[in-house]
Amino acid sequence: MASQPLVIVLMGPPGAGKGTQAKRLAKELGIPHVATGDLFREHIKKGTPLGRLAQGYMERGELVPDDVTIAMVIDRLSQPDCARGALLDGFPRTLPQAKALDERLAELGWCIHVVPNIQVREDVLLRRLSGRWICRNCGAVYHIEFRPPARPGVCDVCGGPLYQRPDDRPETARQRLRVYFEQTAPVLAYYQRQGLLVEIDGEQSIEDVHDALVKAVRLLPEE
Ligand code: AP5
Ligand code: MG
Ligand code: ZN
Repeated sequence: MASQPLVIVLMGPPGAGKGTQAKRLAKELGIPHVATGDLFREHIKKGTPLGRLAQGYMERGELVPDDVTIAMVIDRLSQPDCARGALLDGFPRTLPQAKALDERLAELGWCIHVVPNIQVREDVLLRRLSGRWICRNCGAVYHIEFRPPARPGVCDVCGGPLYQRPDDRPETARQRLRVYFEQTAPVLAYYQRQGLLVEIDGEQSIEDVHDALVKAVRLLPEE
């Protein structure tokens, strides 16, 4: 295993499959899955001041302000389990966030290994978001059509109850997509210029997207 910490930035619009893929890939790579959406939802659940601040933005399908988002990620990356790197999911989403990440990584003497971008058309994204169910207990992600649990409403992994995210309602999902194309698209160009971006066809099966990611990361044996 390389001694240099491994930082991977997984990009893609809402519903592209970032969380689904990141959970498995992070495990295989032996690095933590750091998802800003999940971190905010944890804060909301615990009722922290950051959670109260983030909740309004998330309910409207807007981005949480850069300063608090950046501070949260920098803090997360300084925790001991990130000593070997991290698989970032949902961050950075704006140019100031991308630049702040670069600055922090430069301070640490780390760099980004690769930026896979999972691409999926808008109508498919909306179908994925409207049919998504998540385990309240362990965070496993299901889809009513594309990845149904064995028993409706019950997690295959831990038996916990499944729920739908409030921001997956069609109006909010559409707003999230608008925000993505306006504010996050420039980040793709930023990584493209650095030669880090690798396009992944996200409309394949979950298994095939995984294989494409393994290929893009070039660190795991391919099947
Ligand atoms: P966040 O939680 O990051 O949401 P998102 O980016 O909108 O992405 P999703 O989690 O909705 O989709 P995903 O790509 O993870 O897809 P999944 O694997 O679940 O952010 C939420 C909010 O937090 C933001 O709106 C913002 O307010 C705030 N926030 C977060 N980060 C921020 C930041 N950096 N700055 C500011 N604010 C921030 O899959 C979706 C569905 O599709 C599932 O049902 C799954 O089973 C299914 N599926 C997956 N892959 C496939 C496949 N290949 N074929 C068929 N179905 C599939
Ligand atoms: Mg996600
Ligand atoms: Zn579960």
